Parts: sequence; C-alpha cells; structure tokens
Amino acid sequence: MLSQTIDFIRGNQVFVQGGLRPWCLRLREGRIVEGAPALQPGPDERVLEAGELWLLPGMIDSQVHFREPGLEHKEDLETGSRAAIAGGVTSFLEMPNTRPATIDRAALEDKLERAADHAWADHGFFIGATPDNAPELPALERLPGVPGIKIFMGSSTGTLLVDEDEALRAVLASGTRRVAVHAEDEPRLRRLKKELGPQVDHARWHPRLRDPECARLAVERLVGLAREAGRPIHVLHTNSLQEMELLAPYAGDDRVTVETTPQHLLLTAPECYDRLGSHAQMNPPLREKEHAAALWRALEAGVIDVIGSDHAPHTLEEKKRPYPQSPSGMPGVETVLPVLLDCVQQGRLKLADLVRLYCETPARLYGIRSKARLEPGHDADLVLVDPKERWTVRGVELQSRAGWTPWEGHELQGRVHSTLLRGRVVYRQGRFASESSGRALAFDF
Ligand code: DOR
Repeated sequence: MLSQTIDFIRGNQVFVQGGLRPWCLRLREGRIVEGAPALQPGPDERVLEAGELWLLPGMIDSQVHFREPGLEHKEDLETGSRAAIAGGVTSFLEMPNTRPATIDRAALEDKLERAADHAWADHGFFIGATPDNAPELPALERLPGVPGIKIFMGSSTGTLLVDEDEALRAVLASGTRRVAVHAEDEPRLRRLKKELGPQVDHARWHPRLRDPECARLAVERLVGLAREAGRPIHVLHTNSLQEMELLAPYAGDDRVTVETTPQHLLLTAPECYDRLGSHAQMNPPLREKEHAAALWRALEAGVIDVIGSDHAPHTLEEKKRPYPQSPSGMPGVETVLPVLLDCVQQGRLKLADLVRLYCETPARLYGIRSKARLEPGHDADLVLVDPKERWTVRGVELQSRAGWTPWEGHELQGRVHSTLLRGRVVYRQGRFASESSGRALAFDF
C-alpha cells in the first residue's frame, strides 16, 4: 500500500462542491482526471476504498520555518516536510529566515536543490526583503518556486528586518506579487524592551514586551504604505483585537489579506504561559482571551482569510533557557489539521471553512497551480482523515526534530490517516513511503 500509486478512489465522505458526499475520483499520472458520484474502476486500476474516512484536498501551509540551511539542529527540509505530510499538508511555503537568509538567487537555488533532494511535500520559498535588495526583488519574485516576498517589520528569529518607511516603500514598489508581512513595530518593540527589560523573568511578560500596540502600529503603517504602492499584502499571524478592528474594512478585499494561527485562536494568556512557560513564547505573542475571541469573530466575519501554522521549531534545550534568552517560536505544521478537525467536531468551525482557510485560499492568493480541489485537472494531493479517532497529542511521537508541541496532552477527535502526493500514498498511519517525492510548486501569476 505504501508508495503505491492509486488510480481510483471511492468514498462516502469526499469533499467536493463545498461538502462531504459519496464520490469517486479517477487518477492518472498524479492528476485527477475524472470525478463523479458513481464511477466504476477499470480492471487494472489500483483502487483505494476510503469508506467512511473523510477525503479532503491536501492542506497548504503558507507559513512554515524549516531551518535548512544553517539551523538544521532545530529542523531540516526532510524532518519539517515529513511533519507536514503526517499532518495532511501536501504543499508548504517556507520563510526566508534561514542561514544564509533567502535574499538572493543563489540562496533560493540552494534551497530548491535541497528540497528537490529530500522534501516530502511540494514547496515554495519566500524571498526575504532587506533594506538594500529592493532593486533585485522584481526579478527574484519571478524565479521558479517563489510565491512572493516576506518582510519582517519587527525583529524576530534571524536578522531580517525592514522597519523604516522609506525602505518599506521601496520594497512595496518593487514588484507585483503578494508581500507577506510580520507586522510588529520595531521602534516600540525596542522601547518596551528598554523599559521592561530589567524586570522580565518569565514568558508571562512576552505579551507585554510585544504588546497589542506594537501590532496595531505596524499594521496601520503597512496598510497605508501598501495602498500607496498598490501592492497586495498578506498580514501574517494576526493576534489582537486592535488589528481586527483595523483590518475589518478589508474583509473580502484581496489587496489586504489576513492570517492567524491555531495557537493564537486557542491558547490564551495568562494560562498558556503559566502552563507552558517559554514553550508558549512566539512572535507575535499569544494573548489574553479577549484577543482570541476577537480573532474568532473576525474568522466568522471573513476578515481572516488564511490559517497557517507558523511552524517555528527550536530545540527543547534552547526553549529551556531562562526567559527572555529562550527563542520565540513553536512547531505546528503537523498539528494544525487535527486541531482544526477537533474544532469542527466541537462545532466551533465548519469543515468547509477549515478547507477554505488552510487550503483553498492560500492556493488562490499565491496562485498555486493545480492544487486545492478534488476536481479534474488538479493534482491528486489528498488527505484521508479519520473523523472519529480520539487521540492524545504527544510531542515525542511527532515528526518534527523539535520533539515537543504546545498541544502536549491535548485530547483531539480527528486524525490524519493517510496522505497522497500526486496520486502516490506517501504516508499511512505513522508509516512513510520509501522515499520523498516533493516538487517545487508552480504559480499562475
Ligand atoms: O516566534 C517566531 N518564531 N516568530 C517569527 O516571526 C519567527 C519564528 C522563527 O523563525 O523562529
């Protein structure tokens, strides 16, 4: 079964036309070629009977940090993408804050070569903006395998930073692809660090060191500058009530699109810091319940377009350093789908919204070719989930090299059963195919 190429799938719960229904798919050379409620398999076709498992399009995680090259002790393209596949994620877009940072053609080509060799899922790599590389960005953003540009407006892991208006203007004016932005206001981050620095001694301080005003200020500036430049932007990992107020007018407007993460929706301060310490530390921070509630309202109102993991692994040893020396970030690519499936089971999220937020909209916004739909002409990237299985998340059982998870001990209903990449079973109930087969994604614009 593993590594097997499938020609025909039949199931009672197949996600087509916005919902689960009995359906059959015929596959050829990695693509879906036919889909209908009742089809017959040919005599030589290899058939997968999905039964009552849910068959969904493979998920698309548009914000992961897989650390290769340079920080492979935390993760590499192989371990990160195995975690993706085990989490039902068949395509990922990876961030440029590696060592060296992905800010030029050589660094991009190096990543693409490494990924061709050992990535388990299909992939694209963002180009990082710097205060100096704006003149090269229009050519860089057109290179194969590139979904767009990433800006860090506030410092986080790594050295990438574009915080001054003039430099931001130059980046936004250089090119046309979507710019994904980490929006925290650097001057305010520095001021708070100076003011609070001497007393902070626990991750509990993190949401005060990087307060909602940091996020609000940056988003306000960014939206103004992007409008001036006429450039589409994607505001990453939004986290606060204040951002939701600012971004509400852009619901349904693809010029300004908005991401959040499961951890910002579901893990809240102060409890998450009391329980998890610096394992709950990420940038931008997890905040109090009122912020999470605002994110849920924004999700329902269509202000939030995308869910991403912001998979940002650090080792346990690194995370054990006393705050604030502990690094920011947490793994997540393997747990987004199960955590969201559990929300579906609890009635907090509709399955169609899950698929829209973590699959269809990322594909649409970045123009990812031939993905995200179980329809003829699309790649046969598929995930089978068992909606009934109850399980307890254990970091040591996950694929990420990090070996830990902020969801440790959470009991979830809904688990990834199998993942198919271009028609081939690459993962089934904890076991992987014999070799990786990820390819660079193609983009329509
Ligand atoms: O917490 C974070 N960790 N936020 C980021 O922006 C970067 C990420 C990382 O790469 O560790």
